[in-house]
Amino acid sequence: MAEETLSNLLQEERTFAPSPEFAAQANGTQELYDQAAADREGFWADQARKYLTWDTDFTEVLDWSEAPVAKWFGGGTLNASVNCLDRHVEAGNGDRVALHFVGEPGDTKDFTYAELHEQVQRAANVLSGLGVVPGDRVAIYLPMIPEAVVAMLACARLGAPHSVVFGGFSADALRSRIADGEAKVVITADGGYRRGKPSALKPAVDDAVSGETTVEHVLVIKRTDSEVDWHEGRDLWWHEQLEAAEPEHIPESFDSEHPLFILYTSGTTGKPKGILHTTAGYLAQCAYTSHVVHDVHPESDVYWCTADIGWVTGHSYIVYGPMALGATQVMYEGTPDTPHQGRWWEIIADKKVSVFYTAPTAIRACMKWGEEFPNAHDLSSLRLLGSVGEPINPEAWMWYRRVIGGDRTPIVDTWWQTETGAIMASPLPGVTATRPGACQLAVPGIDLDVVDEAGNSVPDGSGGYLVARSPWPGMLRGIWGDLERYKETYWSRYKGLYFAGDGAKKDEDGNVWVLGRVDDVMNVSGHRLSTTEIESALVSHPKVAEAAVVGATDAMTGQAVVAFVILRSEALHEADEEGEGGELVTELRNHVAREIGPIAKPRQILVVAELPKTRSGKIMRRLLRDVAEKREVGDVTTLADSSVMDLIKEGLAT
Ligand code: WTA
Repeated sequence: MAEETLSNLLQEERTFAPSPEFAAQANGTQELYDQAAADREGFWADQARKYLTWDTDFTEVLDWSEAPVAKWFGGGTLNASVNCLDRHVEAGNGDRVALHFVGEPGDTKDFTYAELHEQVQRAANVLSGLGVVPGDRVAIYLPMIPEAVVAMLACARLGAPHSVVFGGFSADALRSRIADGEAKVVITADGGYRRGKPSALKPAVDDAVSGETTVEHVLVIKRTDSEVDWHEGRDLWWHEQLEAAEPEHIPESFDSEHPLFILYTSGTTGKPKGILHTTAGYLAQCAYTSHVVHDVHPESDVYWCTADIGWVTGHSYIVYGPMALGATQVMYEGTPDTPHQGRWWEIIADKKVSVFYTAPTAIRACMKWGEEFPNAHDLSSLRLLGSVGEPINPEAWMWYRRVIGGDRTPIVDTWWQTETGAIMASPLPGVTATRPGACQLAVPGIDLDVVDEAGNSVPDGSGGYLVARSPWPGMLRGIWGDLERYKETYWSRYKGLYFAGDGAKKDEDGNVWVLGRVDDVMNVSGHRLSTTEIESALVSHPKVAEAAVVGATDAMTGQAVVAFVILRSEALHEADEEGEGGELVTELRNHVAREIGPIAKPRQILVVAELPKTRSGKIMRRLLRDVAEKREVGDVTTLADSSVMDLIKEGLAT
């Protein structure tokens, strides 16, 4: 019976083999799998030498003697910013566009590698003039503007770990991250453009560094030209400082394991974890995966990752991976629906984007808005699409491929985490026949498995927990200031295995399907059901645009399935005409029963206008569970829009 409930996703048998033309030009090849399988460490040594420029070659590939804290490429020295800038300029590619910046109000500006190189050198001189030395932490709180990249690479150049805090976080969140990392300098802006108007950032910084603080200086970038409060002696205008600084900066060489950055991510407890990444292993895995998974050809592609620089995807796949390769990319400041719901597609057509990397939640939003928006633009420049951040429902995957990819482009569904640093599981687009909804395979060099409660590898066709069996170069080196929490969170559940916190399944062909966080797994009458599985079933119904499923406590069955759905606009009218949409709800419940089995039939389906999401786009099921269990709704401070919960409650009351 339990096995039956696994069927919906595991029955997904559509596959899409790469076209011979794509395969012929692809960077990723079958040989990579063979080489990595024959000698994993040797394989990584080859990648580190292939993708990075070393000042001193390394003498040891992996030192695991202090497990679970790994040391990769011991004895080697390098500078991450030199790898992202100087060497491209030296190789004669200084005139290549690094960033096609598109501001939300419509302003655009291109930056070549030579221009960014100069900016970064000036910024490094400014920071060192402010007393920043290797090892000091610098907090970065910025909108999606080119200066964010400059600031990060200037820190990397100085060996001063950056701690980027997402610009949508509150002053309190910023304060606690600054305090935990003991940052010496904050780099911010007066504001950025968000949904058609300037949105201030500086006041949050003023608030966050008021009172007792480790912060000595605040560098302020002028973006919106808004009024700002000024604290003489502490605050400095970025443009004035850069202009006055020397244009050249001689980089220092750092040990492979020199800290590169801290990035905070939420854990199961309230206190965010400062995930620590170091230089060489991280950079090598970012560059390698940009090359073989995103298939970036730096001389010809225009690449666009829609993530914000405040998340790990922005770190690894806007800054470090693509820039280590010397790629040309689009950087966009705003939201996909400002000033209209075709904005992304307009940018793709305009800049001739060829490789596009985004998140399932965005894809589902676009499905909701309708095909007419992408259809109005020429998307024929696209040759590869990527997805990251959560499981992608097979129907969203199919829509992405058909509507955005013109039924032509491979899709890489990439599984990884802030902690893993870079992509861990994904098809290789020129090699793997892709399957909608599955990240499928560990990338060459990565050793993943799905295990049962006891830590034993599960057979194909079964489910369990996703783990890594061997260390990998981009892995976190710890939680800032809390080694014990690092060991406890990731290494205590299974001896010698990295526990990712995700549930996963292997299908009959050995493909891995990530089902979501294990805390999102429900237990209904003793049967394990995945929220994702039921969400996928709902989204596969033609009238549903987006769905979130939670397990609500139920006296009879332990937990019961409660679904919140957003209807596609065509279906909304129908629901309105029916009053509460009763017939539609029955139709959807039956649909789920048909797709997965009667056990998965939601006890309740609530039609809503919006779902509560964090600023990184993750659905906050915890809040929906509160609604489903008719409890007082818990803490909503991490929601992108905290009024969403009021709307949902109001909608249910009427
Ligand atoms: C989820 C984002 C399914 C997963 C890079 C993971 C995914 C968490 C996928 C990490 C995917 C990410 N398929 N689930 N392709 N990618 N996840 O740290 O639950 O923001 O543990 O890193 O997102 O989120 P994080």
